[in-house]
Amino acid sequence: MKSEKGQKGTMMPIGPMMIEHRLIERMLAVARRELERFTREKYLEPQFVRELVDFIRMYADRCHHGKEEDILFRELGKKELSPEHRAATDELVREHRWARGQTRELAEAAERYASGEEEAFVTVLARLNALTEFYPKHIEKEDKHYFLPVMRYFSDEEKEAMLQEGYDFDRTLIHEKYQQVVERAEGAEG
Ligand SMILES: [Fe+2]
Ligand SMILES: [Fe+2]
Repeated sequence: MKSEKGQKGTMMPIGPMMIEHRLIERMLAVARRELERFTREKYLEPQFVRELVDFIRMYADRCHHGKEEDILFRELGKKELSPEHRAATDELVREHRWARGQTRELAEAAERYASGEEEAFVTVLARLNALTEFYPKHIEKEDKHYFLPVMRYFSDEEKEAMLQEGYDFDRTLIHEKYQQVVERAEGAEG
């Protein structure tokens, strides 16, 4: 992937994030097909929605948006950005927040549906529709109009430091996730 390399052949911090975009697209494409099936069959599988919610929360939001916000946007915040890039960054942050809200509503509606509340069906479909339409557009905005242009604000050393920080960030996540799983299990213990 030539376009993701700097002059010295080192990978840029946006390299792993662009790779993550591909996995997010694949999962949301499955969700789109499941949404069409649920609509046709007037029935949905809460288990699929739970897995999707876990994927969006842990991977798309915590791992992926986490690196964007806690590393890339934080570092961009220290630079003198053009008004256009400043506005684009603010918009991406707002979109992340919006997606978090949609995901929460999706999770809650799926649980209501699973416990017998049939009216929650339309809410699940609406949130699935919103999220499956949102992610490809958000990703395209970053891939085609944002990531590469903002790399120009950084030196090679700064890019390398962000790349390394991203790897460290990823390493902590599996521990954080299963720490939470154990704490939840302990809390649910009779
Ligand atoms: Fe993003
Ligand atoms: Fe992204």
